[in-house]
Order: sequence, then structure tokens, then C-alpha cells
Amino acid sequence: MKRVAILISGSGSNMVALAGSMTGDHPARPVLVVSSVPGAGGLAKAEAMGLATATVDHRRFGADRAGFEAALGAALAPHAPDILCLAGFMRILTPAFTAHWAGRMLNIHPSLLPKYPGLHTHARALAAGDAEAGCTVHEVTADLDAGPVLGQARVPIMAGDTPDSLASRVLEAEHRLYPAVLRRFAAGDRTPLHLP
Ligand code: GAR
Repeated sequence: MKRVAILISGSGSNMVALAGSMTGDHPARPVLVVSSVPGAGGLAKAEAMGLATATVDHRRFGADRAGFEAALGAALAPHAPDILCLAGFMRILTPAFTAHWAGRMLNIHPSLLPKYPGLHTHARALAAGDAEAGCTVHEVTADLDAGPVLGQARVPIMAGDTPDSLASRVLEAEHRLYPAVLRRFAAGDRTPLHLP
């Protein structure tokens, strides 16, 4: 059984989808939810699911990314995770941290990478006049939002879409894609998964 730690900064809806999927014959189990933001909505959801939680407040470390990551590593260590899932985790990680977790750390990003790495993905897709948007699960490497793609789900853009309406439809796709990719990844399958 693989041990999965889920890293969040916000509402944690992807964390809920991931943690809820790891039951029965799933090859992994959730062992910890860590938030970089004190009081993030996802913490209460994790506690309600009976999951261990920790907070590593990034603001305490300012620009000291290595210090933040040392504290993050200390929070993770007692739970001995095999896999880290970033799920709305809004910190950029150093090359040392990404190297340490190479091949064992996943992220979900709300665009069809390589389009629109970084922030404001839905506004950028709308401004470009794209016909479709979507989300990507990828391995985390030192290059932001650029690691090997493990899965994508496509979402049509509708007339009258706003960044918020598109975000909520893409989020539903995220909740289907991320658990499906994690299940395959935990079983050793890194073949990209493509959902409609
Ligand atoms: C999700 O849309 C996720 O793709 C995005 O933040 C949201 C978190 O929602 N992540 C990023 O933008 C990473 N750069 P959640 O907290 O409800 O899962």
C-alpha cells in the first residue's frame, strides 16, 4: 500500500476527491494533509474525513524557501509518505525539494499544459478565444508546471463563459481526473490518461 500526503493551500476540493478515492482495492491510502495556509478550508474537510493534518505557515518563512521546505519535510517525515500530491498548493518549490521527490510528486494544474502555466489560466484561455480548456496532472520537476504529463481532461468553453464559470466546470473535471491518475500512478502506470 502506497502512503500519500496531500499538500493544499485552499479549499481542498481536490484533496477531498483524492482522499475519498483511496479505499477498497485502491493501491494507496491518504496519511496526511498539509496546508501552507493556517485555517485553509481544506483542513477542516480533512479533519472531518478523519485524516491527520498539519500546517506549515509559509508566511513565517518569508522569502526563505529552503526554511519553509525544511519545516515541510519535518511535518511529512513522521508519516513516511511514498507519494506527494499537490492539490491547490500555491507555493513554488526549490530544485532541491523537487529533486528529492522526483518521480514521487504530482500536481494538478487548471489548464491544458503546456498552455497557460502559472496563474489566471481561465482568464487567459478566454482572452485567447480558445474553444476548450481543461486540466492537467503532471509530475513535479524544477520547472514550474512543466513536468511529464500523467493525464488531461478537456472541457469545452461555452458562449458567455466567465473565468469563474469556466473554473467551476474545470474543477469538476479535476475531481474526475486527479483520482483516476493517482490510482494508476500508485500502481506504477505513468502512461498519460486522456479524459474527454
Ligand atoms: C484547483 O483548480 C487547482 O487546479 C488549482 O487551484 C485550485 C485548488 O482548488 N491549482 C493551481 O492553480 C496550481 N497552480 P481546491 O483547493 O478546491 O482543490
